[in-house]
Amino acid sequence: MKFSMARRASLQISLLSMVGVVVIAAFAYQSIWMWQQMRHHDAIEQATLAAEQVLIKNSMANAAEMWQRLDEVLLSIGNVQAKVIGADGQIMYGPPVLWADAKYKETYMISLAGLGGEMPMADLELAMNITEDRNFLTFIGGLFVIASIVWAGIVVVISAILAKLQLKPLREFGRRIAEFNPAQSNEKSMISIDSSKEPDELLPVIEQFNMLMGKVTQYNQQLLSFNNNVAHELNTPLSSLTISHELLLKEKDVDSAHWRDSIHSNLEELQRMNRIIQSMLFLAHTTQGQRGNFTTLPSVRAPLEGVLEYFAYSLEDAQLDAKLTGDASAECDSELLKRAVSNLLSNAIRYANAGSTVNISIQQEHESDLVWIEVRNTGKPIPHDAIHRLFEPFYRVEKSRTESHANHGLGLAIVAAISRLHGGEVRASCEGDQVTIGLSIKASRTHEST
Ligand SMILES: Nc1ncnc2c1ncn2[C@@H]1O[C@H](COP(=O)(O)OP(=O)(O)OP(=O)(O)O)[C@@H](O)[C@H]1O
Ligand SMILES: [Mg+2]
Repeated sequence: MKFSMARRASLQISLLSMVGVVVIAAFAYQSIWMWQQMRHHDAIEQATLAAEQVLIKNSMANAAEMWQRLDEVLLSIGNVQAKVIGADGQIMYGPPVLWADAKYKETYMISLAGLGGEMPMADLELAMNITEDRNFLTFIGGLFVIASIVWAGIVVVISAILAKLQLKPLREFGRRIAEFNPAQSNEKSMISIDSSKEPDELLPVIEQFNMLMGKVTQYNQQLLSFNNNVAHELNTPLSSLTISHELLLKEKDVDSAHWRDSIHSNLEELQRMNRIIQSMLFLAHTTQGQRGNFTTLPSVRAPLEGVLEYFAYSLEDAQLDAKLTGDASAECDSELLKRAVSNLLSNAIRYANAGSTVNISIQQEHESDLVWIEVRNTGKPIPHDAIHRLFEPFYRVEKSRTESHANHGLGLAIVAAISRLHGGEVRASCEGDQVTIGLSIKASRTHEST
């Protein structure tokens, strides 16, 4: 059977309170019983002493007076009857059965050997009627049982109400979570729970929930801006293609050279769109970890030398020198690594000052088991507030300048996805005209990255 938290708490409190009441009742019952026993004992002791004195002081010579004295003594004590049995077994004093009608009685025998003179006495039998005391004890016991049951009932009801009241913030919290719609959460109206009025016990949960909401909002924003950017990037070539086709259709007697020019420029737009889509697909696959043909490379430098060779003509064209330093071994997908470094190098070539040197460094960071590959160029500085956004998809520092070109701001996002796939990180810095952008990869894949 599944109990709610409120029911479980109320049952536990009730059980505890029941145990408490039963212990107190049992203690009180036991105390009354002990007190009664003491009273009985005292009364019998008193009666024994008094009876013995009467029997010792008086002799059988004036038996009538002696028995009368005994009557008086017993009467003054009350609730006690006595019987004197002679040595011959005959009852010398008292009724044949003491307290014959009493339901409960306590009987004591005292030896009277040596008393009685000519009519020797044997025993003094004393009996106390304890029926009233026993009845009282039974009544008190019953009263305690009834009081315990009633009390348990009251505690169950009260604790159930209290538990329900105490758990109200939890229900309220659940209701608010149920009302939450991630789609409504954005930077301006981020959904979060105000913890200032909530009980202390809920604070860690609320803190975690608000942190989660922060992440949801962030992902929501990223998704929205990604969608916006995709639409925007594809909109430009599509519009120009549409216009170009409309114009071609309107024109009469178009010569074949013009047709060829138009088709050529349209093909360029189509290729541009294709590049965006290919980059997006690559980014999506890398982010989802669908790529990654990991092998142990004893030298990371070797594939990077291949990349430099590939860019030799571009470097020369931009009047740049390139220098590759350092080496390390790593477990990685060399094709992906080449793609990441190509993206960094193509940027560096685009932004480096003519006549400068582009430095590519490979460094093993032993404490973190990361291999850092960084590309540094001397060129146009990147504004401080743009540095941390460089790795966002479609982000370009100077959008207007690059919009018409073949660059879409996906290169560094791909670098970041590749480094994540390799369990690494990315970083960018700009000191004066020195721009350094790099990625790291885990040297050994002891813990599988996704
Ligand atoms: N070495 C660099 N020097 C100065 N700015 C840079 C450098 N590398 C990147 N940037 C800036 O970062 C932006 C993002 O770079 P990224 O490689 O992601 O996109 P892109 O080069 O514009 O387009 P794509 O790589 O998709 O062709 C660039 O548009 C540029 O503004
Ligand atoms: Mg680029």
